[in-house]
Amino acid sequence: MSESPADTSTDRERSDASLEEVIALCKRRGFIFPSSEIYGGVGSTYDYGHYGVLLRNNVKGEWWRAMLTERDDIVAIDSAIIQHPRVWEASGHVGGFSDPMVDCKTCKLRFREDHLATAQCGRKPSKRAGEGPDCELTEAREFNLMFRTQIGPVAESGSEVYLRPETAQGIFINFKNVLGFARKKPPFGIAQIGKSFRNEITTGNFIFRTREFEQMEMEFFCPPDEAERWHEHWMAERMRWYTELGIQPDNLILRPHGADELSHYSSATSDIEYLFPMGYSELEGIANRGDFDLTQHAKFSGEKLEYFDQGSGERYVPHVIEPAAGVDRATLAFIVDAYDVDEVEGRTRTVLRLHPKLAPVKVAVLPLVSKDGMPERAREVFELLRRRLGTEFDEGGSIGKRYRRQDEIGTPWGVTIDGETAGDGSVTLRDRDSLAQERVPIEGLAERLLAKLDEEWISPKLG
Ligand code: GAP
Repeated sequence: MSESPADTSTDRERSDASLEEVIALCKRRGFIFPSSEIYGGVGSTYDYGHYGVLLRNNVKGEWWRAMLTERDDIVAIDSAIIQHPRVWEASGHVGGFSDPMVDCKTCKLRFREDHLATAQCGRKPSKRAGEGPDCELTEAREFNLMFRTQIGPVAESGSEVYLRPETAQGIFINFKNVLGFARKKPPFGIAQIGKSFRNEITTGNFIFRTREFEQMEMEFFCPPDEAERWHEHWMAERMRWYTELGIQPDNLILRPHGADELSHYSSATSDIEYLFPMGYSELEGIANRGDFDLTQHAKFSGEKLEYFDQGSGERYVPHVIEPAAGVDRATLAFIVDAYDVDEVEGRTRTVLRLHPKLAPVKVAVLPLVSKDGMPERAREVFELLRRRLGTEFDEGGSIGKRYRRQDEIGTPWGVTIDGETAGDGSVTLRDRDSLAQERVPIEGLAERLLAKLDEEWISPKLG
């Protein structure tokens, strides 16, 4: 039931960004760190530093914008992580959210049965699991991926609950509430962003697959005979979202699931796959879930979960189209796609060519030198801009070093206060991608930058 590993759908490889380079940049510039590092780390969990938080917030902000601000047929929800355990019986997660696992009695490692062909032996990493002379693999057993915990101080029967493995079910169990209070009728959607937890056995590839991650899911409820049309609509919309935010279209594919891959709830699913450094891998799934979830929750809870159309007198269980994306995976894709190395004045420069809307910092204000009143004037410009858009004051070190630092965190614009500023009230505006520098007045600078932020943006990596 859990998704497949980073299976590659095509043989295309990328040469512009290796995972190692991206991980090093994320650490060097304070985007992402391995969690609990001072204690030796804990498998596949990560902490986000300042710029990572800002970037992720922008990814989520753009998703909310696409779901809520730009439409009037979707409402938001924020459901609990711990839900009634029956939710997960109804959804099929208690019975079916598992992977067939094989244990090695010798090295004590556990492998997904469907990954045995590529998994490495714990004792002899040069060999595949099961290939070493001492390997002793057990028969495959189902291993449920939900994290279990308990409510209250005493572990007794009935106190066992789960950390949610997806945000979707929190939406289905609130269908009736939303229908009653949001003044919506199908077709309409309910959107949610939040943490999900899966005790993944095969992790790795940095933040691509972790045990604790954030999802952005939207359940779109529609009349049954409109489901196919809305499935097409959401596949196109979601592809558009990624490319408008700067992902190079050639690095994205929409791959329909084969009949053997479909989840138990889905009659049709297509994955948006991105060309990560390890190959094309799932970024987002767009599923036609039919009436599976509402019907199951109606059965298990005894509540009627249907829509009554007063106009036509028709009563029906809406069908659901679900675009389900991962915040962390999308963030990784945006970083990988933006990662670039070029040469400036004979020196190698690493630059994150992020869409300005995603960039953690929009503009850096830099006094050319720390004297002649430049830091003070720069502070004034900083105060002027920071109220309008994400601004950073960057004073320490040579101007070249500060530009490099801002390039690596993806800041699209730099404003330098220099010797001329005091005389004519102008500054140098530097563009991260073209490196063009123009002289512009401080007056109207915030408006100028806000206008740039609204312009259509195409990745300079497209040439
Ligand atoms: N409600 C459907 C659902 O959860 P999914 O394909 O299992 O579908 C949706 O998950 C998205 O959540 C994936 O496309 C991926 O972006 C993200 N995701 C799933 N498991 C993840 C993990 N272990 N680490 C990071 N992201 C994950």
